[in-house]
Amino acid sequence: MVSPSTKLYGLIGYPLGHSISFYIHNAAFRALSIDALYINIPIEPESFSKAILGIKYLPIYGLNVTIPHKERIIDFLDEISVISKLIGAVNTVYLEENKWKGENTDFGGFLETLKELKLDKDLPCLILGAGGAARAVVYAVIEYGFKEIYLTNRTYGRAERIAEEVKKNKNIEIKIIPWQERHKVDEKLILINTTSIGLDGKSTPWNGNFKSIAFVYDIIYNPKETPLLSLAKENNVPFKNGLDMLIYQACLSWNKWFGFIGPFEIMKREAEKLL
Ligand code: ATR
Repeated sequence: MVSPSTKLYGLIGYPLGHSISFYIHNAAFRALSIDALYINIPIEPESFSKAILGIKYLPIYGLNVTIPHKERIIDFLDEISVISKLIGAVNTVYLEENKWKGENTDFGGFLETLKELKLDKDLPCLILGAGGAARAVVYAVIEYGFKEIYLTNRTYGRAERIAEEVKKNKNIEIKIIPWQERHKVDEKLILINTTSIGLDGKSTPWNGNFKSIAFVYDIIYNPKETPLLSLAKENNVPFKNGLDMLIYQACLSWNKWFGFIGPFEIMKREAEKLL
């Protein structure tokens, strides 16, 4: 529904061609007869500061933030949640008491799926990657209750930095495994891919065997089945892709914008049409 009083929401990032947020949010607005419109607002990194200041003066009621602005946006907000601060990234911006506030619903979205999957907390988990997405995943696995966490990344220093921060903030030891040695881990474990390897539909971040893998979670949702997930399937290992995480983070953004969690099934149905 669009009317003269339609409220605007949107996604800032660059580029935005790949994003399905536009479709899932608008489908949910239509289904619930909410007089709102979700638009793509591509902002090139060079124009970021000016564009954000401009947006603050426009009647826009909430934003999602994606690559490459999730970290930079923080400096422009009046307040961010504790978890956003720990992760160092915000993906949801909302207006409250005349203040621009930031939340990280990637964290909550991933956590929600872990609860649904009821993965065994007593198993160790091995997280592949130490980029922006990994930070939300690391804090979510801690919150879920995994006690033994391994982290491996091509650039060792990035993994080290996350481990240091987690030690400082949560007093939890994350064990770092050098990228080249990741396949040597032979304990029964849960494998979580947060790297971008597999987005191309051809590459896999895991070439080792699957004998000791209890579950594979790849946070990529497009393609729906990455080569990593195909390998899990061939080896009869249960697996999950990133679609539900994506939908939950969108639903949780609604909680900040409207005070209730967005309609998961409606958004998921719309996403599945597109993927
Ligand atoms: P995001 O915000 O999606 O996590 P990112 O911060 O750019 O994006 O992180 C991408 C992750 O994929 C990183 O862990 C990156 O490893 P580096 O820290 O070494 O860059 C990982 N990655 C991407 N391409 C890779 C490749 N070809 N081999 C190994 N790791 C790769």
